[in-house]
Amino acid sequence: MPQTAAPRPRVLSGIQPDFSLHLGNYLGALRNWARDQDRFENFFCIVDLHALTQHPDPERLRSLTLELAAMYMACGLDPNRCEIFVQSHVPAHTQLCWILETLTPMGWLERMTQFKARSQAQGSERINTGVFAYPVLQAADILLYDADVVPVGEDQRQHIELCRDLANRLNSQRGDVLKVPAALISQVGARVMGLDTPDEKMSKSLAVDRPGHAVLLLDPPDVVRRKVARATTDTEPAVHKPLGAGVANLLEIYAALHEISVDAALEAFEGKSYSILKGAVADAIVDALRPIQARYADLRGDEEGLRRVLAESAARVHLVADATLQRVQKAVGLR
Ligand code: TRP
Repeated sequence: MPQTAAPRPRVLSGIQPDFSLHLGNYLGALRNWARDQDRFENFFCIVDLHALTQHPDPERLRSLTLELAAMYMACGLDPNRCEIFVQSHVPAHTQLCWILETLTPMGWLERMTQFKARSQAQGSERINTGVFAYPVLQAADILLYDADVVPVGEDQRQHIELCRDLANRLNSQRGDVLKVPAALISQVGARVMGLDTPDEKMSKSLAVDRPGHAVLLLDPPDVVRRKVARATTDTEPAVHKPLGAGVANLLEIYAALHEISVDAALEAFEGKSYSILKGAVADAIVDALRPIQARYADLRGDEEGLRRVLAESAARVHLVADATLQRVQKAVGLR
């Protein structure tokens, strides 16, 4: 008898095309997305509307959008098994966002730690309301596709909670309209820390002014080696417990790249000098980046091909998103 395959759970995630991707993005996100792509029905978005809250130079935004699309694929996302699309190509994102905004109490958004950090840094006269509404647009991204799971870093947990709260709120008011998604916080490689400041998560924006902060996925081998060689360790001469944060981070990177446990990595380097550890970590990074960079060069070089992938995917996901939007519009009385 022919077996009918059980429907696979739907996964959705997204990255802003704001800065170049780094090793933490690969180990914490892209590598896991690629590895799991046969377990899920896959929706991966390039969230250019979110990036707009940072007022990027238009030419730069256009180019980073294509760069990110090429990098998704270079890291292993297969356009035959994944939707890879640009948020702004699908108007339903902003349409659902508005409806959700009318359901979002100001207090919920005022409590978001990312918003609080940015508004404290910039002040309410300088911060734009897109930053305030950012998590509502993110909720629209997720809810439009009836996503079951949303793989994100720990820093996004609060935004996913808000998304769930919004779905539950509409469902309790208007009957079951939206699927309530769950966050999927990856354990392995989820928290790659800054090489210069191992108490801070590796961050795309911090890497801009501090080249020693992160290994970028497009860094050539000599740059990788230099950055790793300069990574912060501690004053101990060799790898010993208790591990300083910098040494723990290097072991974590090594373990993630070799797909072994951190304990096994510690065993391999116990008592060895930091320069031996750093050499091995740099080798592992260079080996992992080599095929990614080769694929990236091909993909980014074929701009027409890239645009075609994005347009075809947008045309397909548009249908899914519109169906959900119409359901919500009916539920609230807009149609
Ligand atoms: N806010 C997310 C981040 O900065 C990016 C994002 C936008 C996202 N929309 C999303 C992540 C939907 C997951 C699902 O990392």
